[in-house]
Amino acid sequence: MKRTIIAISVALVVMLVLAACGGGKDKPEATPAAAEAAQAAEAAPAGGAVSQGDAEKGQKLFVATCSACHGPAGEGIEGLGKDMTTSDFIAGLSDEELVEFIKTGRDTGDPANTTGVAMPPKGGNPTLTDEQLMDIVAYIRSIHKQ
Ligand code: HEC
Repeated sequence: MKRTIIAISVALVVMLVLAACGGGKDKPEATPAAAEAAQAAEAAPAGGAVSQGDAEKGQKLFVATCSACHGPAGEGIEGLGKDMTTSDFIAGLSDEELVEFIKTGRDTGDPANTTGVAMPPKGGNPTLTDEQLMDIVAYIRSIHKQ
């Protein structure tokens, strides 16, 4: 009698373990991670480092703060902000360096200024946090054509 109980207990434990492991494979938890990875790969420039920010959030922030000068899709506006989709300057910077650049901006007195128009620090929106700037950088990477 004791043996039967032990056997049943063992069988139950084995079934539980199998159910836990087997069920795990089909659980939907795996999907968001995969989608995130795919999204990150999409946002990253060809052969470049994967961006750490969230490009979707970055797009909203970009439209709110940067698009006034750089255009709704970062294509630039004549006499205002430069085209971001083909910029070698942007391509040459790491994500961290780009965040630092955006925080500093590029005044008209800066020898690197090419348009005679100022790029204001944080695009003139001092409330943007480093994390939000990283999101904007992820968006900028996603629209870059090179
Ligand atoms: C008031 C207009 C204005 C706003 C708003 C603005 N920018 Fe700019 N930005 C400029 C101008 C003008 C330049 C080019 C300066 C020059 O002549 O080199 C520039 C240049 C840049 C560059 C360098 C591009 C290159 O190829 O040299 C980056 C990157 C950039 N801006 C990012 C941003 C981001 C991100 C935002 C939003 C947070 C933003 N800008 C908001 C005007 C603006």
